[in-house]
Amino acid sequence: MSENDTPARTSHRDIHSKSAQAVSHSASAVRPYELHDEPSWLRCRVLAFLDTCYYDDVWQERPADPSIQLVAAVPANNGEGGDEIVGILDVEVDGELATIDTIAVHPDHRREGIADALLEVGLRRLPTNVSLLDAWTREDEPAHAWYRANGFSESDHYLHVYKGWRESADGWTAPPPLGCPVMAFCHADLADEAEARARFARVYVCRRFSRPVVPAAPTLQG
Ligand SMILES: CC(C)(COP(=O)(O)OP(=O)(O)OC[C@H]1O[C@@H](n2cnc3c(N)ncnc32)[C@H](O)[C@@H]1OP(=O)(O)O)[C@@H](O)C(=O)NCCC(=O)NCCS
Repeated sequence: MSENDTPARTSHRDIHSKSAQAVSHSASAVRPYELHDEPSWLRCRVLAFLDTCYYDDVWQERPADPSIQLVAAVPANNGEGGDEIVGILDVEVDGELATIDTIAVHPDHRREGIADALLEVGLRRLPTNVSLLDAWTREDEPAHAWYRANGFSESDHYLHVYKGWRESADGWTAPPPLGCPVMAFCHADLADEAEARARFARVYVCRRFSRPVVPAAPTLQG
């Protein structure tokens, strides 16, 4: 949805440029995930990944307790009140490393600055000892562009390889009492990319994006 379609709305980016209070406006607001968000959160996630390499990574339940759980919400247009979730950010923290588990924006709300706003709030919520933020992703150029635009650099590559049910079962085995796999998902070395692509239709280069986390400057009091 473009800004021309909705002149009354102000994008996150417009708000960001005008004010440090950049996390809410009339269209959507970034806030912590709440239990009652789960159905809308799951819908947002499915729709956000539908046009990506993760299109079939569908969840029916929200994963338990990532360290940081943020959503961007708009008033639901269903006549019943409440919120519709249009953006999600989950971050796991492990010592000095924080990892983005999920960053996803509803397809009707892309390029409104929602992912940027989620990241901005997420960075502020990281424990002070975190020095690196990373994420692993496949081949979706919008995601790569967003990471790069937010100061992440690409490194570490390996393959995600799917065997589809139509693809040959030659060479596949499974522990008894199972028959050979009908479908499979495997990791492989990047060095074997040509061989993997020659045999399987669905092969992705999975890569890491990471950026240093700079401690927030202390706020001046009164
Ligand atoms: C990646 C994603 C989260 C970005 O969300 P978003 O809210 O549309 O991104 P923003 O509006 O905050 O974009 C910020 C900047 O990132 C870059 N960017 C974002 N989407 C882009 C695209 N499709 N093409 C090029 N650059 C893009 C731009 O620099 C953009 O600034 P600009 O709009 O002023 O040019 C969204 O496209 C998405 O949900 N994709 C599917 C899920 C996914 O792939 N998640 C990441 C991998 S796990």
